Amino acid sequence: MDILVVGGGGREHAIIRKLKESPRCGTLHCAPGNGGIACDAQCHDVAATDIDGMVALARRLRVDLVFVAPDDPLVAGMVDALEAAGIPAFGPHANAAVLEGSKVFSKDLMKRYGIPTAEYEVFDQPEKALAYVKAKGRYPAVIKADGLALGKGVILCDNYEEARQAVKSLMEDKVFGASGSRVVVEEFLTGPEVSVLAFTDGKTVKPMVSAKDHKRAFDGDAGPNTGGMGTVSPNPYYGEKEADWCMEHIFQPTVDAMAKEGRPFRGCLFFGLMLTPDGPRVIEYNCRFGDPETQVVLPRLKTDLLDILDAIREQRLAELSIDWIDEACACVVMASGGYPGSYKKGLPIEGLNRDGQLSESDITVFHAGTKKEGDSFLTNGGRVLGVTATAATLEEALDAAYGAAGGIRFENAHYRRDIGRVE
Ligand code: AMP
Ligand code: GLY
Repeated sequence: MDILVVGGGGREHAIIRKLKESPRCGTLHCAPGNGGIACDAQCHDVAATDIDGMVALARRLRVDLVFVAPDDPLVAGMVDALEAAGIPAFGPHANAAVLEGSKVFSKDLMKRYGIPTAEYEVFDQPEKALAYVKAKGRYPAVIKADGLALGKGVILCDNYEEARQAVKSLMEDKVFGASGSRVVVEEFLTGPEVSVLAFTDGKTVKPMVSAKDHKRAFDGDAGPNTGGMGTVSPNPYYGEKEADWCMEHIFQPTVDAMAKEGRPFRGCLFFGLMLTPDGPRVIEYNCRFGDPETQVVLPRLKTDLLDILDAIREQRLAELSIDWIDEACACVVMASGGYPGSYKKGLPIEGLNRDGQLSESDITVFHAGTKKEGDSFLTNGGRVLGVTATAATLEEALDAAYGAAGGIRFENAHYRRDIGRVE
C-alpha cells in the first residue's frame, strides 16, 4: 500500500515510522513533512490545510490511502473530499470531527448523554458571559473559544479583570476569528491530567495505552501553555481501575452518542481527561492523534498499524486484538528559545547523523520543526525535536531520553528537565 500522510510535525513522523514497520507498507509520502520526515518518506510541498491541493496530490501519486493527521483539515472536511474523489482516507468525517471543532457541540453532547465533564454555560454575547462570571464569583474562571484556536483558545482567569480581558480578546477583538463568536464558561477542575487516544470504527472503541503530556513551557509547570513539551506513557496516575471506569462512563458512551447523532466517529478519538477528586471528567475531545502523545504511544504498539486502519475503515475493529509492549516510553521535546512566543529559525542542529538520528543508539529522534539542507538539519519551528526512548521502566526511559538530548545542540535550545517527574 502506498500511503500519503498529511501533516508535518513530530506526530506525523511517529505515524510514518510506525507505518514503515508494516510488511504491507509500500511507498510513503508526506505533505508537507519536514527535514526528518524526508529521511523516511517522500515529502511534497502541499499545505496540510489545502484540501483541493491534497486531493490532487493523492490522485497524482495514486496512493492507496491518505492518513489525515492534523485537526484543521479534519474539521474542514478533508476526509470527506478525498472519499468523494474515490480515495480511501483515514480520519473522521467533518460531521464527527466537530467533536474537536466546536466546544459548544462537545459540551452539549456530553450534557445530553450524561458524560462527566465540567459544568458550563454557552454565551454569544460578551456582556452575558461576564455577568455569569461575576455572578458565579469563583476563580479561576475557565473561558474557552468555541472553535479551533491553535491550542490557545482556553483561558484560565484568576480574577474578574482577567476574565474581562479574555472575553474582549476572544469575542470582540476576535483574535481567533469566528472561533470566538461563542464562548464556553466552565467550572475549574483540579487533578492530574491524562491523555487517552482510542481507535474507533464508530461502534467499537479500543483505547490505546495512556499518556501524560506536559503542556507548560517551563519546569514545575510554570510559564505559558505550549503544544506540549514532553510526554510519557503509561500515565503514572491512570491504572486499571480508572481505565475500566472511563470505558464504561466516557469512552463507549461518547462513541455511542456520536453514532446516535448520525455522526459515527471513525478514526482516532483523543480523550483529554482530568482525574478530579470526584472522579474522571472530560476536559476536551480531539478528533485526531495527539502531539506529542503519539510519539510515546505508537512506539509501544505491537499490532500492525495498517491492520488496525483497515479494520476501522471496514468497521470490524471488534474482531481485532490490539497488543502493546509492556515497556515505558518517554519523549523530551527540544524547543526553540522563546517558544511559544517568537523564536529564530534556520539555526544549525549539531549531533544528528545524516538520517536525522543518533548513530548506534536505541533512541528515536522525531522531527517536529526541522528543515534538511544537504546532509544537515536546521531548526524550522517552535518545537524542533522529540527525543524518545523506550525502556523497561519509566525512569530508565527518561534517563536515556535526557542523556540523548544532552548530545544534541542548537543555539538557544530549550527543554524541560522534569518531564515525567513532576507532581
Ligand atoms: P485544551 O486546549 O482544551 O487542552 O486546554 C488546555 C489546558 O487548560 C488543559 O490541558 C487544562 O490544563 C486546562 N483546562 C481546560 N479546561 C479546564 C478546566 N475546566 N479546569 C481546569 N483546567 C482546565
Ligand atoms: N498534546 C495535546 C494535543 O495534541 O492537543
